[in-house]
Amino acid sequence: MNLGVLGTAGIAHHSFVPAVAKTDHEVTAIASRSEERANSFATDHGIPQAFGSYEELLESDVDAVYLPLPNALHAEWTKRAADHGLHVLCEKPLAVDAEEAREMGDYCDQQGVTLMEAMMFRYYPRTERMVEAANELGEIRSVDAGFHSSLRRWPAGTRFDPDLGGGCLLDVGVYAIEVARLFLGDPERVVARVADPEETGVETQVSGILAFSGGRTAQIDCSFRLQDAQYCRVEGTDGRLHADRAFSVGTDPSEFELRLPGRQVTESFDSADPYALELERFVEYAETGQRPRTDAREAARTLAVVDGLRKSEEIGEWVKMPE
Ligand SMILES: NC(=O)c1ccc[n+]([C@@H]2O[C@H](COP(=O)([O-])OP(=O)(O)OC[C@H]3O[C@@H](n4cnc5c(N)ncnc54)[C@H](OP(=O)(O)O)[C@@H]3O)[C@@H](O)[C@H]2O)c1
Repeated sequence: MNLGVLGTAGIAHHSFVPAVAKTDHEVTAIASRSEERANSFATDHGIPQAFGSYEELLESDVDAVYLPLPNALHAEWTKRAADHGLHVLCEKPLAVDAEEAREMGDYCDQQGVTLMEAMMFRYYPRTERMVEAANELGEIRSVDAGFHSSLRRWPAGTRFDPDLGGGCLLDVGVYAIEVARLFLGDPERVVARVADPEETGVETQVSGILAFSGGRTAQIDCSFRLQDAQYCRVEGTDGRLHADRAFSVGTDPSEFELRLPGRQVTESFDSADPYALELERFVEYAETGQRPRTDAREAARTLAVVDGLRKSEEIGEWVKMPE
């Protein structure tokens, strides 16, 4: 598949474009708001075409686009790409709230193109194996998940711009919510402390509780200020699963631990490129028309929790989630 990339984003430069080179697919075009940045990115990565505007790339001869723009621009450029009949692999979070994600999904369905959220850890073999291993845990009663990203550029860049969809909930909190939903389903109620202690203009520290049917719970944590950490612990009546660096391991090997009474197993996974694996699945979905595991409906469910946590901070109470 011939891919175009919209924007010379850090994630495209460091992770996605190098990953494509490990597959049978190709980035054939890069677009930037600046022609100079597009040319320089094309030279760095050996990309044949460079455009000084996103629209020009959409009119060119690509099959799909990878969209790593600031969060608040995902909806607009997804729809514009869909208008050109292009499939879209859009970075996480798909949108800035649940309603926007649903609109994007409906729009792409109408245009007959595949829209997939690049929530790469969902396609990573360790995550897939953890979901299987969870069958050994008895009834899963609680998940404790967190992603802290100690940003070096403080407080600068798109992550601190409320108009561009900044804040730690959309940036890293979505991973913790997504993994809680993966093991427990959709919560009935949520409550949170959504804080901006340094008054940066966006939330930089969040702790939330998600309440599920039958007294099951998840605690999620995310931060731009605490030292780097990514963890996920799944507790069942018969045992526990635990993973560190649970969401983003780059191309490093990874592992998780399964603890059952009288048995403790560490399962290890060879190094793999999660962005290449995610791309392979995207192409398969686009070619077969099958709905992606991380489609817009799935993204909307995670974003509904983000909306609920923010609402809880606003009203100082538990928020009942929509059915
Ligand atoms: N899956 C993952 O592992 C992962 C990791 C990191 C980030 N992400 C996601 O990827 C997306 C990009 O993150 P990033 O950290 O790579 O972003 P970034 O380095 O800040 O790049 C964003 C790009 O968007 C373009 N852009 C268009 N309008 C802009 C504006 N008003 N302000 C700033 N940039 C603008 C710029 O490209 P031009 O100037 O060339 O047009 C810029 O290079 C986000 O949605 C983020 O959540 C995912």
